[in-house]
Amino acid sequence: MTNEAILKKVQANFNLSTNALKEMIGAFHDEMRLGLEGHESSLKMLPTFVDRATGKELGSFMALDLGGTNFRVLEVKLGRGGKVKVEHVGKYVIPKAVMRGTGEQLFNFIAQSIEKFMVDHRIGYDKKRDLGFTFSFPMKQTDITHGMLINWTKGFTATGVVGKNVTNLLIAALKRNGIDSIKVAALANDTVGTMVACSYQDQRCDVGIIFGTGTNACYREPSTEMIVNIEWGNFNKLPINDYDIKHDKASNNPGKQVMEKMISGMYLGGIAQLVLADLIKSKLIFKNCKAKITKGTVTTTRMSHIEADLSKKLTKVDEYLDSIGIIDSSLAERALVQKICELVSRRAARISAAAMSAVVTWMDPQLKSDHTIAIDGTLYERYPGFRKTIVATLKELHNSHAKKFKLTHTQDGSGIGVAVVAAVIAHSK
Ligand code: GLC
Repeated sequence: MTNEAILKKVQANFNLSTNALKEMIGAFHDEMRLGLEGHESSLKMLPTFVDRATGKELGSFMALDLGGTNFRVLEVKLGRGGKVKVEHVGKYVIPKAVMRGTGEQLFNFIAQSIEKFMVDHRIGYDKKRDLGFTFSFPMKQTDITHGMLINWTKGFTATGVVGKNVTNLLIAALKRNGIDSIKVAALANDTVGTMVACSYQDQRCDVGIIFGTGTNACYREPSTEMIVNIEWGNFNKLPINDYDIKHDKASNNPGKQVMEKMISGMYLGGIAQLVLADLIKSKLIFKNCKAKITKGTVTTTRMSHIEADLSKKLTKVDEYLDSIGIIDSSLAERALVQKICELVSRRAARISAAAMSAVVTWMDPQLKSDHTIAIDGTLYERYPGFRKTIVATLKELHNSHAKKFKLTHTQDGSGIGVAVVAAVIAHSK
C-alpha cells in the first residue's frame, strides 16, 4: 500500500463532511430540548442559579479550582470598572491515588492545600472569608452554594462523593483540618466561571466553553435568563469509528462522555495511539519496528509537538519516534505520523465548531446578533491549528454570518470566574 492509500484509509475514518456537521447540529438541538424539558437526553442541561455579571461587582474573594490535573487556590480582588486582580495563586498537583481514592482523602487534600496556601501567603484565620468553589463536574444544583455530584468525569473516581453535596463535603473537610473562617459563597462549573469572568467586561458574552483536559459549555438560556451548564462532553449523537469504540471500551467510563473523548486533551492522544498501533500491526508502517505502541505512548501534548514540527526533515517527530524505540523511520513515515495527528485533532476542532454553532443558533437561529464566546483551556490556547480550524469550520457552516461568533480567549476564567460569581450574588442581595 502506498502512503497515500494508507492515509486515505485513515482519512475515511476521521473525515466529517459539512452535511454530517449540520446533522449533528440538528441532533444537538433535539438533545438540548429534551434535556431542558427534563426528558432522557445525553445533554444534562443543568441550571446554575446565576446570570451574567454587570461589571459593577466588587470585593475580595478566595477561589478554589478543582477539575484538571492541578488543584488551585486563588486570591482574587475585583475593583472598580471591571478590574480583576489575581493577588496570589497556589497550584497543587493532585496525586493519581487521591483522584482515585476515597472522597475523604480527596477533600482532605483540598483542605490541606488551602491551609498551605493560607500559611504561604500569610492569610490569617481570624477574618471570615468568602470563597468561590469551581467544581468542574456535572452537578445538580439546588441553589448557588449547593450542588450534588451526578457522576465523575475525566480521571476522577474518588468514592463516596457521587450523590453527595460537595459544599458540605468541603466544609466538613475544612473543619476536620481546623479551618472554620471560610464561608462558601458560590459554587460553579468552570464553563460558568469562564462565561461570567468574560461577561464582567463584555455584557454580550452569552457562551462559556472549556477545551482542556475535558470539554464542556454553558450558555444563557433566553427563556429563563439563567446560565445553563450543558455538559456537552456527554453528547452521543455523532458518527463514531472503530477506533472510538475501542478507545471508549478501554476508558474508565465506557459509554459516557462520547463527544469529550473525541475532542479533549485527556483523550486525543489515546485515539492517535490506536491508529498508529493499528497501522504498525497491519505492517503498513514501520515494518521492522519491534517497539510496542501502548497506552500512554502518544499523549495530546506529544501530538501538539508533532504537529508543530515544520522542519524539512521532521526532526522533532524523528526524536519522538526514537524515544519510543522506532529508530529508523523514513521521512515519508514521519510525515504520515504527523498527518495522523492532524486528522485526529482536525476532527476534534470541527466537532467543537459544530457544537459551538448549535449552542449559538439555539439562542439566535437567524444569527441576528453578535455573540461573545468566552473560551479557555490548554487545547484552545496551545494546540497548533485548533482555533484556526474552528474559525474555518464556522465559516463553512454559516458563510458571512460566521462573523457573529466573537471568540474570546478568557484567560483563567475557571479560576477567577467563580470569584465574580460570588460577587454577583453578593451584589444582587
Ligand atoms: C468535564 C466535566 C465538565 C467540565 C469539563 C471541562 O466535561 O464533566 O463539568 O466543565 O470537563 O473541565
